[in-house]
Amino acid sequence: MSVPHSQWAQKLKPSPTLQIKAVADAMRSAGGEVFDFGIGEMNPEIPLPASIKEAITEAFKEDATHYSPAGGDPELVEAIVEDLRRFQLDYSREQIVICPGPKDAIFKAALALLNPSAKRHRLVMLAPGYESFENIPMLLTGKPPILLETDAQFLPDPTRLADLLKQDPTIAAVVLNSPNNPTGAVYERPLLEQLAEVLAHHPDVAVLSDEVYRTLYYDNVPHTSMGSLLPEQTFVVGGMSKEVSGTGLRLGFVAGPQEVMKTLENIQGNASSCVNLPTQKGYARFLREDANLQVRHQIREGLCRRRDCLLEHFAEAAPDALWHTPRGAFYFFPDMHAYLGCRTADGQLVETDHDLARYLLQTARVVATPGSLFQRPGHLRFAYAVPLETIKGGMAHLGTALAKLTRTQPLQ
Ligand SMILES: Cc1ncc(COP(=O)(O)O)c(C=O)c1O
Repeated sequence: MSVPHSQWAQKLKPSPTLQIKAVADAMRSAGGEVFDFGIGEMNPEIPLPASIKEAITEAFKEDATHYSPAGGDPELVEAIVEDLRRFQLDYSREQIVICPGPKDAIFKAALALLNPSAKRHRLVMLAPGYESFENIPMLLTGKPPILLETDAQFLPDPTRLADLLKQDPTIAAVVLNSPNNPTGAVYERPLLEQLAEVLAHHPDVAVLSDEVYRTLYYDNVPHTSMGSLLPEQTFVVGGMSKEVSGTGLRLGFVAGPQEVMKTLENIQGNASSCVNLPTQKGYARFLREDANLQVRHQIREGLCRRRDCLLEHFAEAAPDALWHTPRGAFYFFPDMHAYLGCRTADGQLVETDHDLARYLLQTARVVATPGSLFQRPGHLRFAYAVPLETIKGGMAHLGTALAKLTRTQPLQ
């Protein structure tokens, strides 16, 4: 007989992106080139800005290695308050909690918001969407999220959200994520205004607005924060991971309505005590110095070049794929249905996006994540914060591998 463990926890799916990373790492260590579009990470291609490295090193030298207050080092909290103003957000110091990474911030915000025994306890997630939104409600309430499908351009339909909120009195929170992982979609201000209008009719429903990619938008479609439109209901999540290429430093934050933030601070204090102090000091100094967002915009420009390169070469490599130009974050999410139902040169049937990802891995050494893992089968996700040579080489290999597939039925 074994020790019993949580049934809810047993339903958790492993993080798909971390699984794909393990496959790519294993291939790399076995030798040979890997065209890795798997994990959503900029480092080492676009490393942490030097000014943050210096500030963290100085904090160590000054022995700033003790606990900070649970909600965060006051210096960083103040710097975040100032920085949020640059995004038209007006949160006070008491409304901010620093957590060990954005994922942890989302988890603790959900912990503060979702009560499994309350009438309102379900979380709405827009599909396709990021893995944590699928797993966290399962862990906290034993129930999966309610999926609301987005349209062909991966944008939510405010009318469908309004209908869902009207019909389902069990909804406690709605998650929004713009710029979006896995699609690269950006919700423009008019759309967010419509969503805010719908949500304002349900003041007891929280909005968890994951804005970890807020500085990574292209084509002059600036980021609008839901927190600026619906501050009484919105919990904005941000952090260092994607904004400054600090995934391994583990620093995220939540800004939201004060009463819940007090609870969240208490959760943070009990679960993690605080985030490591040198990193907090480093990010505080960076935010003060990058008041005009110059460094963050440089990072964005580097990613924009990679996006343009990827789209140009993908169009040649996969002429039958359907796609929309991603306008934010660093993901590309083409519809690959045209390649499903084909046979490989040795007669294997490529039926699903999983089959296609496996085929590309084995034949082209191209790592891409199956769209099913983000609740949209038939698609692949390419994370493109990689060297331009990887993009060009990877797309050339992808093209050769796709050209070897033979169709069993004509394309419709
Ligand atoms: C939309 C979104 N939110 C949160 C996270 C979590 O970031 P981290 O794993 O650094 O905590 C990610 C990571 O890919 C993400 O894409």
